Amino acid sequence: MTSAPETGAETIAEPLRIGDVIVDPPLVLGPMAGTTDRTYRLLCRRAGAGLVCSEMVSINAIVQGNARTLRMLRTFDGEHPVSVQLFGSEPAIMADALPVAEEAGADIIDINMGCAVPKVRRVDAGVALMADPAQAAALTAAAVRVARVPVTVKIRAGLVPGDESYVDLARGLQDAGAAAVAIHARTASQGFRGEADRRHIARVVEALDVPVIGNGDVTEPADAPRMMRATGCAAVMIARGAWGRPWVFGQARAALRGAPIPPDPLPDQRMAIALLHAQMLVLEFGERIAMHQMRAQMHNYVRGLPDARRFRSAVNDLSTLAQLRALVEEYLASIREDLQARGHGDTSAGADCG
Ligand SMILES: Cc1cc2nc3c(=O)[nH]c(=O)nc-3n(C[C@H](O)[C@H](O)[C@H](O)COP(=O)(O)O)c2cc1C
Repeated sequence: MTSAPETGAETIAEPLRIGDVIVDPPLVLGPMAGTTDRTYRLLCRRAGAGLVCSEMVSINAIVQGNARTLRMLRTFDGEHPVSVQLFGSEPAIMADALPVAEEAGADIIDINMGCAVPKVRRVDAGVALMADPAQAAALTAAAVRVARVPVTVKIRAGLVPGDESYVDLARGLQDAGAAAVAIHARTASQGFRGEADRRHIARVVEALDVPVIGNGDVTEPADAPRMMRATGCAAVMIARGAWGRPWVFGQARAALRGAPIPPDPLPDQRMAIALLHAQMLVLEFGERIAMHQMRAQMHNYVRGLPDARRFRSAVNDLSTLAQLRALVEEYLASIREDLQARGHGDTSAGADCG
């Protein structure tokens, strides 16, 4: 560890190595269905994430050649390193599906063992694998056998509160060849309720030789070094905290280095990032699907800005990118006066997304 001259604070931003993949800084965009497609991953990577994860992709659908699923595997040149998350339970299917994800550009293959939604449980995948450690290890071993890239696994802190079997499960996954384990510090039964309990992360760190990625409730940049110090984890994964806020990675990177945390981008810059996101989504999915997704994303992009409620209700009626652009322009003009009155002056200068 070295001292950062700006503040005298310690830096804990050592890059993480997963196999041959360098994760620098040790900050990971967590997988989120409906959000972490390659457009948002690219934004987060450029804003400072060291690794970005795809949303979960079905191995059964990959081997069936489902066109929509295969599209989900696509990566952009600028987003590497990228981890592609797969879900399923059958080792033979994993062995057939994994090379397809590698071919599409995955630098890491992650296996989902933390999701409890019906479409995942139906195929005995996600958290169902936490209840069946032998199957979880067999699936991981099958992936490791065929993979040319490192294989990681994302788990939860047990099925129900008090269930500490996740520590043995994580050891079993390591023995099966997992190159790292990410743990969301909530039990499966908790869903997203209650607080993530970081002691679970510390327990897995203590038990494993491979790196552990800590996850759960990192919402502010300073939470990242706090989680690393409290648990000894090798990297921090941010999921919901990055919603409509890719710049959180640049801020968390500064916090890990003990450097001053850059302020949030000013409204014009935020909106420029949001519109870039919207435009990429239109290219990716077409305008109808893109605008549907963007309506939810815009709610996050305006978080903390004046008059956000009015903007959010107006955004719900949008169906085209041109309408979104017009609404953003009108909104920025209307809040400019308000921000000047509050002493923020120019709404167009200031921090950079990068
Ligand atoms: C909308 C949504 C979709 C998610 N999709 C996935 C997924 O596809 N795979 C996965 O492993 N976790 C998924 N998660 C869980 C997150 O990756 C993360 O573990 C969880 O949100 C806790 O981290 P956070 O407090 O930083 O959000 C999802 C979470 C949300 C809110």
